[in-house]
Amino acid sequence: EYPAAYYYLTEEVVASRLLIPEKFSHKGTLGNTLLIAGSYPMMGAAVLAAKGAIRSGTGLLSMHVPCKLKEVIHLSVPEALVEVDRNEFCFSGVDNLSRFQAVGIGPGIGTSPVTAEGIRQLLSVWQGKVVLDADALNLLASNSGLLELLPKGAVLTPHPKEFERLAGKSVNDFDRLNKLSTFARLHQVYVVLKGAHTIIATPEGECYFNMTGNPGMAKGGAGDVLTGIIAALLASGHSPLDAAVIGVYAHGLAGDLVVEEQGMRGVRAGDIADKLGLVWKKME
Ligand code: APR
Ligand code: MG
Repeated sequence: EYPAAYYYLTEEVVASRLLIPEKFSHKGTLGNTLLIAGSYPMMGAAVLAAKGAIRSGTGLLSMHVPCKLKEVIHLSVPEALVEVDRNEFCFSGVDNLSRFQAVGIGPGIGTSPVTAEGIRQLLSVWQGKVVLDADALNLLASNSGLLELLPKGAVLTPHPKEFERLAGKSVNDFDRLNKLSTFARLHQVYVVLKGAHTIIATPEGECYFNMTGNPGMAKGGAGDVLTGIIAALLASGHSPLDAAVIGVYAHGLAGDLVVEEQGMRGVRAGDIADKLGLVWKKME
């Protein structure tokens, strides 16, 4: 199905959607984000997602990680609270989600059957705001029944290969755009198809095109930072559409600021997270 409408994202529109903390805001009102990320030995993805979230305005950040990653998170993102999974090496399930305003899941979690079951359990109890990325998407694509459990308004952030696993092969870019809007409508989710021009498709079938970002960001880990950003925006009170739109725009702009200093070749994913503060300052 063709997209219902097309928009492109301008800084004005994006900035107008960004919520600004009020004078009496405190860490309890700015949201508690839960990130489920990383597995052993895939640990960096969890760190990068955490760095994206911690610079994006969440009051609290909790990292749910396998025991093996505990120290790594404490050392690299000391602001985060760490919650340890029952499984030593990978995600297997969560207990109490009531204190969280948003959940982000996927970067570096791997695709073991234990983790697939953990996601099934999570989605059967969690009806709140959620962003799913990377291996969480690969597991949705390869385990029947999981897609149907997605809460309405979930945000999915596939790169083209992950989207292909979810929605099948496309013959060209137009076909893929139609598949994107069809998928978002069918499952009533927001799909962020990442690339040089990231496209955000809504459950109504509308498509938003992003213009920020650059090929210097084509590096492992850049996507993980985006997952953390979107999760934090969701937790701090933004709607799924606003979190996706603001997150994608800000992530690209942060990448553009890194390039001004380091050049395309010098960009590393962690630098993108470090530049987020300047991006928010510009928008506030
Ligand atoms: N121009 C602008 N932005 C770009 C460009 C480009 N040419 N290339 C990449 N990007 C941006 C994308 O828009 C996206 O936000 O960089 C990010 C890359 O994200 P991913 O493709 O998810 O890559 P990443 O997660 O960092 O690394 C690969 O993804 O699926 C997992 O397990 C897989 O570990 C692997 C990881
Ligand atoms: Mg990725």
